[in-house]
Amino acid sequence: MKRQGPIGIFDSGYGGLTVLKDIVAHLPQYDYIYLGDNARAPYGTRSFEVVYEYTLQAVNELFSRGCELVILACNTASAKALRSIQQNDLPSIDPTKRVLGVIRPSAEVIGQWTTTGHIGILATEGTVRSESYPLELQKFAAGCAVVQHACPMWVPIIENDQQDTEAGKLFIKEDIEKLLLKDSEIDVIVLGCTHYPLIEDYIRSLVPAKVKVVSQGKIVAQKLAEYLQRHPSMEKACSKNGDIRFLTSEKTEVFNLNASKFLGRGVSSEHIHF
Ligand code: DGL
Repeated sequence: MKRQGPIGIFDSGYGGLTVLKDIVAHLPQYDYIYLGDNARAPYGTRSFEVVYEYTLQAVNELFSRGCELVILACNTASAKALRSIQQNDLPSIDPTKRVLGVIRPSAEVIGQWTTTGHIGILATEGTVRSESYPLELQKFAAGCAVVQHACPMWVPIIENDQQDTEAGKLFIKEDIEKLLLKDSEIDVIVLGCTHYPLIEDYIRSLVPAKVKVVSQGKIVAQKLAEYLQRHPSMEKACSKNGDIRFLTSEKTEVFNLNASKFLGRGVSSEHIHF
């Protein structure tokens, strides 16, 4: 019989909280540990090697705290580290543990929302350069035109709570305009970075009414539920007390304040040192 433990949710910073929120709403019975590597965020402009090293450290931290299943609630880590961890590291760490990402589950369903067949992806530089979305969408939405645009300023703007300032708003507006200029037939924009739902309302106000803005939280929550249904031994290995714990590499006071704003509930975190 497999040990039981919480489900680990990892992101470079606060963005994964948008996924955690939807997962907990959908699957409140499980225990969760959220790890935000806020002190080293953003990951989006870092090299493959560094994102991989940091993500593996975080995954090992979550494993050492009893997680049998870890979700990389970070597109950049999913794009740059997931495959290596699954193929090269898991077999030697513990072949019964699992690490899942957010790009594949999103790519599986995105195609159903477009009528023009033109899909826009907003993401970090790392995710865009990895070509993970165009590659995955080729499998699940073959024939669709996929147009990407990297927004390197958005994660620093959100991590530093600058999204409502004039400067922050201008950066965001310019990036949306650049994406839509690349292809005026886009009718679905995927927020391919888990930080971006935190500015979803503002993004919606900037795009024409015909354009759907899709964030990943609900998709990932639904896909996780389906995964657990298909893998009953992993489902049994997920402890069920409805607890949520938070770990951060940032000062806990800073994380608690910001995370509480994002989640709309009190947060008490524990510091981890990488
Ligand atoms: N939330 C991460 C993502 O989904 C942000 C990456 C970063 O730290 O730049 O890509």
